[in-house]
Amino acid sequence: MPNRDLIERDLRVLWHPCTQMRDHETLPPVPIARGEGAWLIDHEGRRYLDAISSWWVNLFGHGRAEIADAIRGQLARLEHVMLAGFTHEPAVALAEALVRITPAGLSRVFYTDNGASAVEVALKMSFHYWRNVGEPERCRFVCLEGSYHGETLGALGVTDVALYREVYDPLIARPLLAPSPAPGPGEDPVAAATRAADALDLLLAANAGQVAAVIVEPRVQCAAGMRIHDPSYLARLRATCDRHRVHLIADEIATGFGRTGTLFACEQAAIAPDFMCLSKGLTGGFLPLAAVLTTETVYDAFYADWASRRAFLHSHSYTGNPLACAAALATVELCESTPFLAGIARIGDWLEAAFAPLAAHPHVADLRRLGAVVAFDLVTDRVTGTPFPWQERRGLAVHREALANGVLLRPIGQVVYAMPPYIVTEDEVALIATAARRGVDAATSTSAGRSFAATPHRLADADPSGLEV
Ligand SMILES: Cc1ncc(COP(=O)(O)O)c(C=O)c1O
Repeated sequence: MPNRDLIERDLRVLWHPCTQMRDHETLPPVPIARGEGAWLIDHEGRRYLDAISSWWVNLFGHGRAEIADAIRGQLARLEHVMLAGFTHEPAVALAEALVRITPAGLSRVFYTDNGASAVEVALKMSFHYWRNVGEPERCRFVCLEGSYHGETLGALGVTDVALYREVYDPLIARPLLAPSPAPGPGEDPVAAATRAADALDLLLAANAGQVAAVIVEPRVQCAAGMRIHDPSYLARLRATCDRHRVHLIADEIATGFGRTGTLFACEQAAIAPDFMCLSKGLTGGFLPLAAVLTTETVYDAFYADWASRRAFLHSHSYTGNPLACAAALATVELCESTPFLAGIARIGDWLEAAFAPLAAHPHVADLRRLGAVVAFDLVTDRVTGTPFPWQERRGLAVHREALANGVLLRPIGQVVYAMPPYIVTEDEVALIATAARRGVDAATSTSAGRSFAATPHRLADADPSGLEV
């Protein structure tokens, strides 16, 4: 089937996520027929290197046999059964595995279907815990400047990206915003972490007894533009939450399963949160699934007679789907049976070496790397670090040029990043860096701004940061 046929059918019936559909008049969706390792292949055989792991979900490559086989095996036994009142081996075995591999103290697992719903569960559980122990006035949440925890209304209540929040603002809960620990231009990372931790301490003191939890993306605020912070912040955060008797929710939806160089980012500060949210890489990128892990202390506060109305009455029809749990078990097995963290360290070195020359580019600033994530800002001038007017959509120009070079890059506003699957080779990393450089060249040529200004955002005054292309 030619690509064009599928595109035409698509545009007649589909409404794509995070997309101004009118953009497809000039940049049609790429019709993918197959996935193979780090590659996506369209209906005419054109290949694209998936340098962003399909929105950060893929870990061990597309079509990875061990995960596909596990799903097939489970399919022959049981496709689904409701998890209320029933149970099944994959749900139990996966919960056992997650308790084993996550930081000590996390001993209970609650499943949902995606990242945003996992965040909602953690928020609801935290609030409900305080209510059950007689502190119902703890009903506020603290999130960090630039935080992103998903796009359902509850998750937007702890998200600080204007592009997603602004329109729905009247519908969304208002969080307490704490400064981001990511360093500003020229700022020492440890000093930035200390500054942010001090401010959080003051914020919690000023709202004593009213806060249920602080939610954080440990080590890197991904959707804010891969803003990396020092691990000392996490250690201070844990101590500060303890001192103020506030829960700590670690959203490891993007950072979990090795992205930052350790299995979970929290390990880098040797902390255990009260809630940990997992999704994305949990199933190796095969099926939607999320898990919220929490402590026995939290669990016990809900364990009571029915009449006490303490139960956590939250459910989704597909909670703990056996196929997704089987995929996740195979993923955990791959994490444990292969030297994958050593592989990530190697990919990190390759990314750093391949992207290093870009640091001298006149339109590149703040080249940074953590684990298997590399990022830089596209700027008018690398000395001042000034971004281009957001209406010019230079990030979109990088995306287009990278696609023309056979690489899937999808900048976040004007932040160009790569987060490849863990099976990427050194040559493929070099290809990603080449595509990024050509993308930057194309996006910063004098005509680029003019051509992309033709399709401006609807949100005239929105903060341009966000997954805008
Ligand atoms: C840190 C973080 N939390 C939550 C989410 C939301 O996950 P989902 O897209 O599965 O709802 C994301 C998605 O990018 C994320 O990066």
